[in-house]
Order: sequence, then structure tokens, then C-alpha cells
Amino acid sequence: LLPLPVSPELLTLKQSLGNGNNNNPSSFPPNFLFGTASSAYQYEGGYLSDGKGLNNWDVYTHRPGKVIDGSNGDVAVDHYHRYLGRFGYVNVAGIDFYNNLIDALLLKGIKPFVTLTHIDLPQEIEDRYGSWLSPESQLDFAYFADICFKSFGDRVKYWVTFNEPNFQVKFGYREGTFPPSRCSFPFGNCTSGDSEKEPFIAAHNIILSHAAAVHIYRSKYEAKQGGSIGIVINGAWFEPISSSMADKLAAERAQCFTTNWIVCSLRVNQEHEPQRLKGYGHKVTKRTASQLENLYVTIFFCLLKCHNRLTNQTDVDWLYVYPGGMEKIITYVKKRFNNTPMIITENGYGEVTKANSTIEDSLQDVNRAKYMAGYLDSLSTAIRKGADVRGYFAWSLLDNFEWEYGFTRRFGLHHVDFKTLKRTPKFSATWYKNFIAESKIPD
Ligand code: NOJ
Repeated sequence: LLPLPVSPELLTLKQSLGNGNNNNPSSFPPNFLFGTASSAYQYEGGYLSDGKGLNNWDVYTHRPGKVIDGSNGDVAVDHYHRYLGRFGYVNVAGIDFYNNLIDALLLKGIKPFVTLTHIDLPQEIEDRYGSWLSPESQLDFAYFADICFKSFGDRVKYWVTFNEPNFQVKFGYREGTFPPSRCSFPFGNCTSGDSEKEPFIAAHNIILSHAAAVHIYRSKYEAKQGGSIGIVINGAWFEPISSSMADKLAAERAQCFTTNWIVCSLRVNQEHEPQRLKGYGHKVTKRTASQLENLYVTIFFCLLKCHNRLTNQTDVDWLYVYPGGMEKIITYVKKRFNNTPMIITENGYGEVTKANSTIEDSLQDVNRAKYMAGYLDSLSTAIRKGADVRGYFAWSLLDNFEWEYGFTRRFGLHHVDFKTLKRTPKFSATWYKNFIAESKIPD
């Protein structure tokens, strides 16, 4: 590769950032895990390969008007065929695909963290009984989880049941921007659902599906396989816009509706749905005693994003740059949920692909590195002050398919040319690599 032209502004920024070693090198403990995050639908493609059935995103993205650039994840970034790199090609059935992927990661010294469901699910489950709106989903999820634990648990030591159930139900059943695209006025522009009730029913079935999977893992596999299991919550931090009581209460309520209403249901703190949900609680279906029994689980992972609409917005309209929020929400979770162990499973900086932008623009992603440096600094402060955070994964390893935004949003540490699918490391990839090498105390 030829060296890329660098503007004087970029050069100054780069110099101020250093090579990734600007944090206190002793900030992260020896066993701390650094990584990157990805997901099946956003990466794999191979949507009809090896007898795979359609999932709900395959169907949804093929409907006109659902994804802003008309794209879909049929090929995504072709991870299904390319994960071994350009010399490797596998064409095997689903279980074999993951078996090989896990083996390849382990060979490279990478510990896999497996999410059982990262937003997509089989379309058949949607068609047969309306997926998360039906308690039947709990049985299918438990069955699926059991197969995964049995097939991969000898090598996978970290399991996530659900990714962001709080957003999955918000977008799928309140705003209608994710499949099954259910919502009702005034929350979205569709008429197929009941935005007042369905998000709560869907969340109820997801929480009980999570509990069922955790129960299976704990009773059948944990002792033998020696791993741990948890759930990923999208945990944004909210700041009151003024010091008035009304704004403080509004920020608290936002915190509740984003983070706590799922986390509290998991009884991390032995609480039920939080007080601030009063008035909505009647929409949460009641749980039986035995169902509650299985909900005594610990949150092991937490996804943390920090939003403060008074601070810098990134290119991507829903992401704001507020590194201090990292420490704040970690400290909040630490206090409120008995310093439950946490892993930051995603933290990342998105860019909008502009019509006239070149690959060089994308490769010089100093802003992304600066963003990560800020959040990592804030994270290391939280850890120094006693929070039990055990890992940090960047979203994301590669540019990929960003749900309803298609390929118009780039989050990768590596650039992907979506025509040729060629991967090229960006500045941030090198920066993160150096940062990890410099800031971890050796094992
Ligand atoms: C969180 C989601 O888990 C992931 O799928 C998504 O691409 C990123 N955030 C960026 O929006």
C-alpha cells in the first residue's frame, strides 16, 4: 500500500493522539479483555447458503422502503465465506460454520463471546405464532440455546442470550423500524400493532426466554463447561438539561425506560420493575413463581452508550460524543446493581457515507480513534474507582450492514469496499492495536 496523503490538521490530531499509548499504561488490569464486536445478520450474508431458512430481516429488508438505500444483508460483508481470509473458503452447514469460526478464533488466541440472538430470528417463528408476542417463543429459544451450548460450549466460555432487548422491542413493536415492524400512531407510521402494550409483552417473553436459557446453561452445562452467561442491555446515559426538578425527573425516567426496566426485571438487585414505570406496569405481564425463580440471574454484560444532546453529535444522528458518560453510567450501574460484573460489548463511532467521500477519507479516521481514546480513558477511571468492568469491545471490526440504514453508515476499524468486499485497516485499527499493547499489564 502507498502511504496515504495526510492533511496538516489530521497530522496535528494524530500527533496529539499518539499511537494509542497515551493512557496510563497501568489503567487496565491484567485479565481485562479487549476486543471488537460484530453480529450475524450484519456480517454473514450467505442468506440462502447451505439450506439456511429465511430470517425476519431477510424478509423485512426485501420490502420496498424499509432500508434507506434499498440494500439488504443478503451478502452483507460476506463473512460467511471470508472469515478465514483470502486463502480460506468454507461451504458447510450452519453448525459447521460456527464450529470452524470458533476454532479459527481460538487458534488466533481470540476468545469468542457468542450472542444467541442479535436482533434477527427465523421468519418461520414470526409466521407461525408472531415470535416474541407469544409465550411459544420461550420454548423455541430454550431449545435453540440448548443446541448451541451443546455444540459449542466446550470452547465458548462467554454467552450472551440477547442483544439489546430494550431496543429490539422499541424498534420492532413501538416504532416499527425493525421487523416485525409493528406500531401504532402516534409512535410510528404503521397501524399493525399496539404500541402501548406490545413492547411490554415482547419484552416479557424475551426476559423469560433469557431466563429459560440461563436455567438450561446453569443446570446442564456451567459446571462441566466452566463458562458464564449474561445479557446485553443498551445502556445510554441521560443528563438533565437543567437543574430543575422536572428535568431531573425526566432524565431519571429516560434512564428507567432505556436501561432499568429490563435490568430490574432480571432481579439483579432483587427488585421488580422500577417505580418510575408506574402507570405502565399494568402492561407488563405478570410472572408466575416458578418463572420468577429462574430470573435470579446476574447481568454479566452491559452495552453502554452515552448520549448527551448538548455535546458533539457524530455524523450519525443518534450518536453523540460524551466520553464522561461512560464513567457516569458505569458508576450508576455499579451503585444500583451491586457492582455486578460488566463488559462493554459495544462502543463505537459511526460515519455517514457521503456521495463524494473517498476511501482515503475513510481510512484517515482519526476522529474514531479520538472518540475511543476518550471513552477508554473514562472507562479506566471508572475501573480505578472500583467498578467491576472486565472488558471493552469496539463496534465494530469491519464496516458492515447497519440495519435500516443499510450500507450508508460505517462503524468499522477496517474499511470495506462494498463492491469488491476488500477490507483495508483504517488508522483506528492500528491505533487500537497499539493502545491494547501499551495499556495492558502483561498476564
Ligand atoms: C448496537 C447494535 O447492537 C448493532 O447491531 C448496531 O449496528 C450498533 N449498535 C450501531 O448502531
